[in-house]
Amino acid sequence: MLLLGFPECLPQARQLAQALNCRFGEVEVHRFPDGESLVTLPTPLEDTVVFFRSLHEPNTKLVELLLAFAAARANGCKRIILIAPYLGYMRQDIAFKPGQAVSQRIIGEWLSQQVDDLITVDPHLHRIQHLEEAFPHCRSIATSAAPLLGAFVKSRGLDGVLVGPDDESRQWVEQVAVACGLDYVIASKERLGDREVRVTLPACDYRGRDAILVDDVISSGRTMVETAQQLLARGAANISALCTHALFAPGAREVMANAGIGNIWSSNSIADAIGDAIPDESSCIDLTPLLAAAVIRLGQV
Ligand code: R5P
Repeated sequence: MLLLGFPECLPQARQLAQALNCRFGEVEVHRFPDGESLVTLPTPLEDTVVFFRSLHEPNTKLVELLLAFAAARANGCKRIILIAPYLGYMRQDIAFKPGQAVSQRIIGEWLSQQVDDLITVDPHLHRIQHLEEAFPHCRSIATSAAPLLGAFVKSRGLDGVLVGPDDESRQWVEQVAVACGLDYVIASKERLGDREVRVTLPACDYRGRDAILVDDVISSGRTMVETAQQLLARGAANISALCTHALFAPGAREVMANAGIGNIWSSNSIADAIGDAIPDESSCIDLTPLLAAAVIRLGQV
C-alpha cells in the first residue's frame, strides 16, 4: 500500500503513513499561470494507493483529484482509497429553491465512481442517515472525532456546559458529553444568510457558568458568535469553541475573538490551519489514530 499526500497536507499524510507503517509519497502539483493544474504521481505505484486530502476550498482540489485518480489507474493502481478528513459539498443536500444543484448528491455520485473506498470524519449528514446514500458507488466509512473532542475536554479538566448551537449538532454534542461527562444543552438556529444566523437558547441558568460551544464545522464563525452572544447576555462566564472542522472562512477568527470566544479547539482535519503559524491551539486534536483505525477496518493493513 502506498499513501500519497497533497502539498497542503503533507505533515498529516506522512504521520498517517507512519502510523500504518506503509510507504509514503508526495503528489506533485504544479499550477500554471492560467490556473490549470499539472498533477504528477511518484511512480512506481502499488496495487493499492491511498490519497489523503481534505476537501475544504474544494473546487480546484476536486479537479486535481480527478487527474490524480486517472493517473493512478493509468499507472497500474488497482484500488484507490480516498481519505478526505473533511468532505466538502455535504451541506447542500436538497434544492432549497427551484433550479438549485443538489451538490451533495452530485459530488457524491461522481466521487464515488472514482474511488473504491472513502474514509471521512464527521461528514455533515442532515437529511440522510448514512454516507453511502450520498456516495452510492464505493465503500465508505464515516468516522467521528466527537469521542476525541470529548477526551480532549476531559484531559484538560474543563468544566461548564456544552452547548450545541442547532439541532444538527446534537449527534456530536451527545458523544462529546458521554466522553467528558459534562452536561449539555441544544439551541435552535435559523439561518438568514451566509453570514447571518439567529440562535435561541433553551431555558437554563447560565449565570456564572463556563460554556463550550460544540459543532461539526466552523465556517464564517457566525453560528458560534451568535450563540456566544446569547450566552453572555444570560450571564455565562467564559466561552470556548470546539469543533471537528475549523474551516475558518476569512474573518472568522476575528469575529469570534471579538465576540469574546476565548479558546477555539479543533481537530487537525484542515491542513492549512496547521501551517498558518497562528499562535493558538486550534487544530490541536490529532485525527491520526482515528484515520489509521478506519484504514485497518478496510482490511488493508
Ligand atoms: C451547519 O449547520 C453546520 O453544522 C455549522 O453550524 C455551520 O456550517 C457553521 O457555519 P458558520 O460558521 O458559517 O456559521
